[in-house]
Amino acid sequence: MNERILITGGLGFVGSNIALAFKNGFENLNVVAFDNLHRRGSELNIPRLEAAGVEFVRGDVRSKIDLKSIGPISFLVECSAEPSVLAGKDGDTSYLIDTNLSGAVNCAEKCRECGAPMIFLSTSRVYPMKPLLDCSISERSTRLEFSKDQTVAGLSEFGVSEDFPMSGARSLYGGTKYAAEIMLAEFAHAFDIPVVVNRCGVLAGAWQFGKADQGIAAFWTAAHTFERPLKYIGFGGSGKQVRDILNIKDLLTLLFKQYHDPARFAEAGPLNIGGGLECSASLLELTEICRSVTGKSVPISPEPETRYADIPVYVTDNRRVSSFCGWTPTTKVEDTIREIHHWILSTPEGAKLFGLTPSK
Ligand SMILES: NC(=O)c1ccc[n+]([C@@H]2O[C@H](COP(=O)([O-])OP(=O)(O)OC[C@H]3O[C@@H](n4cnc5c(N)ncnc54)[C@H](O)[C@@H]3O)[C@@H](O)[C@H]2O)c1
Repeated sequence: MNERILITGGLGFVGSNIALAFKNGFENLNVVAFDNLHRRGSELNIPRLEAAGVEFVRGDVRSKIDLKSIGPISFLVECSAEPSVLAGKDGDTSYLIDTNLSGAVNCAEKCRECGAPMIFLSTSRVYPMKPLLDCSISERSTRLEFSKDQTVAGLSEFGVSEDFPMSGARSLYGGTKYAAEIMLAEFAHAFDIPVVVNRCGVLAGAWQFGKADQGIAAFWTAAHTFERPLKYIGFGGSGKQVRDILNIKDLLTLLFKQYHDPARFAEAGPLNIGGGLECSASLLELTEICRSVTGKSVPISPEPETRYADIPVYVTDNRRVSSFCGWTPTTKVEDTIREIHHWILSTPEGAKLFGLTPSK
């Protein structure tokens, strides 16, 4: 059998980019994108994936039968999720838990049956919130930043490393992903399957159907492109909260390395993967970048109250993965925004991709 890689959540932002990159990057590799079309916009990926020779299977990770129906695979990348940090806060947690936790375990079960290695797209949200709220943060003119004088293990001016303490609440979303990591580690140990875990910070790039609560770079760029008003929500409404932003293409270069040597990466344990300090921005800074790239300004109103599970600063300390395999992010935030802007304008559906109607 030719190698056959299954990408669960394969019509999502991350999954569709991975499916295409693997299809184009490896001759004779069969790539299957498996998705239940839960995410608005995911269906728009079907034609471009099929045109590239990716097989699309409509199915649900919550269903072992759906996963079984795919047949033998030689590798699995688990990208399906309800990825919003606000998910479940309305009290309806079933979809979140069944997809993010049980779905990930079902994927591990599929790997056990097929003897296939797995890469799991985890999140920086596995790190508990309290130390990130209580730590020492300095306020600069356009951003907040981690101070040099940190007392929490794994926290420094470079960001959050893998040594960060793990006890405490981390959001319902983060809880499902951390619980999945724990179960996957058990599957890896009990059944000798290599499971690579990437704890990603904010990811961004073309083909991300961004919303206010997930996919902020695409959402901010689209709002500028189509001149829709925005809000600085939380932390006093100053817009100084900071995230690092990793371009999806940078993630892909790492995934290729991991695909070639999953056992070695699995052995390394969970790795923090993100844009790092060099590729980070506050909302205020993101606004300036969007203005410069799109040539448009939009009204932005402050909403001082901080929302559930929000944190003021998250920057990935990438030093472990860098020293482990030489990988570092290369794409600056401005280039990522330019790429997203170009994609929005060059895609016929334009504003509709974001559930927007152009204001003019
Ligand atoms: N985008 C980011 O900034 C980011 C950051 C850190 C981690 N991650 C992780 O990366 C992965 C991919 O995220 P994304 O940004 O591509 O999200 P996305 O919402 O764009 O993609 C997820 C895909 O999963 C599909 N899906 C949802 N429930 C499903 C189910 N029950 N069965 C089958 N398919 C289902 C959706 O339809 C969607 O196409 C997730 O695991 C997420 O937790 C993403």
